[in-house]
Amino acid sequence: MRTTTARAYPNIALVKYWGKADEELILPAAGSLSLTLDHFETTTTVVPAPEAATDVLELDGSLADPGQTNRISVFLDHVRELAGREDRVLVRSRNSVPTGAGLASSASGFAALATAAAAAFDLDLDARELSRLARRGSGSACRSIAAGMAVWHAGDDESSFAESVDAPDMRMIIVTVNRARKAVSSREAMRLTAETSPFYSGWVSSTEDYLEQMVAACSAEDFTRIGEITESHALRMHGLIQSTVPPIRFLNPTSHAIFDAVAEAREHGIKAYSTADAGPNVAVIVRPSDAEALAERLSGFGDVRVVGPGPGAHLLTAADEVPPAAGTSAGEGSHA
Ligand code: PMV
Repeated sequence: MRTTTARAYPNIALVKYWGKADEELILPAAGSLSLTLDHFETTTTVVPAPEAATDVLELDGSLADPGQTNRISVFLDHVRELAGREDRVLVRSRNSVPTGAGLASSASGFAALATAAAAAFDLDLDARELSRLARRGSGSACRSIAAGMAVWHAGDDESSFAESVDAPDMRMIIVTVNRARKAVSSREAMRLTAETSPFYSGWVSSTEDYLEQMVAACSAEDFTRIGEITESHALRMHGLIQSTVPPIRFLNPTSHAIFDAVAEAREHGIKAYSTADAGPNVAVIVRPSDAEALAERLSGFGDVRVVGPGPGAHLLTAADEVPPAAGTSAGEGSHA
């Protein structure tokens, strides 16, 4: 085993993943498609701790809470099973956005952890196997293994992975309206939706249909069609989520105002389309030449950032290791 460091970026889905076919293997009820970004990265260092009784997680310079530590430990059990080893590890992870705020930190987090842990445990995985592994941490993480536009195939454990597809160049404007951790996790909200919404089966079949149209629109470089599907599919997802019992709402009045402002920009000739994940923040896709002007228009709604297509998850060198949290001695002297 060795100490390894990896970096991964979040992705924002244009055709959303919402609902599982298998809770344990994290198989989606339908495929999805997303853009891996070039901002808001997670950097994760995995340090072997053969003497330790449990895994330890340091998140953004502090010891993580037991819930978060348990979640990565369950994931690491799967890595240990693949490697045929029992070693515990120390995981040091640093996010450039707040964890759990609906900016897909679980995707960048588990993509970085899967990449670093696979290397730390000397697993020789290709991109497809790495995507399947990241999927086991958080479904959407499998898409952050791939660069740029990526499609995640529904299927069984073997065939459910993400890979990059051709798409026209575009920018995404991320409008952060709220950085607070969301009240309901996507995992829990997804489960409630599947169990209680009368619209769930229609959602799954319409997602399959949209995904097929979206992949065709991407390869035809038809930005307008990509945008129309993106906005429509996001609103369908939020409508579906609101139909759970008890209801869950992730969008707030500011999110709706941004959707309206983007629709108004379209009336003025700026082709742009909105989407939002499990939180109130809005992501707007736009052609590169319109990005700065639209970002300016949206700047009154919150913190605005123009981002583009980013790289897939990758290993870094020892120079990029995440330093130990202040006041801990756990990482010291462990570079065995
Ligand atoms: O991978 P999870 O469990 O964080 O779920 C992600 C769900 C959405 O972000 C709302 C949609 C998606 O496809 O990323």
